[in-house]
Amino acid sequence: MRLVLHVNGREHAVEADPEALLLNVLREQLGLTGTKYGCGEGECGACSVLMDGELLRSCQVPAAGAQGRKIVTIQGLAAADGRLDPIQQAFLDEGAWQCGFCTAGMIVAAHALLRRNPHPTEAEIVTAMNGNICRCGTYPRVVAAIQRAARGGAQGGAA
Ligand code: FES
Ligand code: FES
Repeated sequence: MRLVLHVNGREHAVEADPEALLLNVLREQLGLTGTKYGCGEGECGACSVLMDGELLRSCQVPAAGAQGRKIVTIQGLAAADGRLDPIQQAFLDEGAWQCGFCTAGMIVAAHALLRRNPHPTEAEIVTAMNGNICRCGTYPRVVAAIQRAARGGAQGGAA
């Protein structure tokens, strides 16, 4: 079936199986491989994207259900001139990864958090990020990065 998806500020028309998952369409048909396939079962958060500013696990949603909504992936966060957005920059400044596999999902989840709560406590950050798994154990640096971004006034929720 023909799908029209609004992703990272642009409309994309694709032919996809009616059951195709959003994650697979993003990665395989739109080439947006910054969004990662981790568990495929809604457990790890690696596939996180924003849909109308809300956190979404793209491995759990049919692409057809994303039509008419605004999807933002990790590759839609930086400015057109390549400047990182403040949350990406904070992760860089804090060195908040090792292998980096979880990082795209972490940054997207941090966007969703700071959108609804621009000044979270450490406990609120830990709770909000609980669904994003990092096998390298960089959680303390992830928390520090989100605190840094919040101190800098990052609002999250890129549209
Ligand atoms: S790949 Fe979607 S939650 Fe793990
Ligand atoms: S940095 Fe390796 S999984 Fe998080």
